[in-house]
Amino acid sequence: MLPTIAWKEGTIVMIDQRKLPAEEVYVTCRSYQDVAEAIEKMVIRGAPAIGVAAAYGLALGLWTLKQSEDRQAAFNRIFLRLEKTRPTAVNLFWALKRMKRVFEENMDISFERLKQRMLDEALSIEREDIETNKKIGIWGEGLIHDGQIILTHCNAGALATAGFGTALGVIRAAFSKGKKIRVFADETRPFLQGARLTCWELNRDGIPVVLITDNMAGYLMLKGEIDAVITGADRIAANGDTANKIGTYTVAVLAKEHNIPFYVAAPLSTVDFDKTDGSGIPIEEREPEEVRKIGGSCLTVPGIDVRNPAFDVTPARFITAIVTEKGVAYPPYKKNLRYS
Ligand code: MRU
Repeated sequence: MLPTIAWKEGTIVMIDQRKLPAEEVYVTCRSYQDVAEAIEKMVIRGAPAIGVAAAYGLALGLWTLKQSEDRQAAFNRIFLRLEKTRPTAVNLFWALKRMKRVFEENMDISFERLKQRMLDEALSIEREDIETNKKIGIWGEGLIHDGQIILTHCNAGALATAGFGTALGVIRAAFSKGKKIRVFADETRPFLQGARLTCWELNRDGIPVVLITDNMAGYLMLKGEIDAVITGADRIAANGDTANKIGTYTVAVLAKEHNIPFYVAAPLSTVDFDKTDGSGIPIEEREPEEVRKIGGSCLTVPGIDVRNPAFDVTPARFITAIVTEKGVAYPPYKKNLRYS
């Protein structure tokens, strides 16, 4: 399985996703500040993966702390720094909150044991994420039929998680069941997660993948060349409205127009039950240079005005089903996502 992120002898090692597929290089984070910067600069990206990175960042921040330092003050400082890295994917906040609970429950134990306890929690978050994705795969593969062509947007694969992937986990599970499926990967401008990461992952696994630019999906849908769409998610509101990579909304609207099922695959840690609908989900706006340049070269008028929202929100009415580790939820999501 792909090594997205790992704890290694008091450091955190991540594959540098900015360099793929041209180079397979690893970045070593030696401090929580390194981890925060790695998340901001997209060395690591994808909602569950940044949750795991944040948990490790918190563990590392305490791991490197001197006995004489004030643990509570240090914890707060590390927490605040990591919390500020990226605003949209709720998994980041979910993981930090989970780590905070463990910190608070273990205030009275020795400093050495506390450090180990925090690291163990981060390791559990990583391990559980892989198990969760495998469950999502098992539930979701039933939605994918032999011979189908599936469109995906961005990268919701092993690289976007601790391993296996969410949307790509469903595709992997269907493929490993012997279903002869093919995948169209949207290139996903401006960061090109589809072209660089999804194509790389699927190609490595021998799953047939065809790269398309983001503006080709409508043409291919109209021609009957796409049977289903599956994407990941960065934050799902209680009513099913789903924030995911910019361009997801466009694909979902197109899918509805062409009567093509549009599926979202995500762990329950991506569902933010505190948001009643998608209007309250914060949308990250990134650096204009990401749009002005490709691979370091400027493709427009230098300094031209740019908008660069990194995510959009797809209203629940465009989503056929949401696959989580607990099962396949159909509308009304407000009731059915709670699995109660
Ligand atoms: O900006 P990114 O690359 O972090 O955005 C990633 C996505 O939008 C993914 O589709 C989402 O996080 C799901 S990953 C399993």
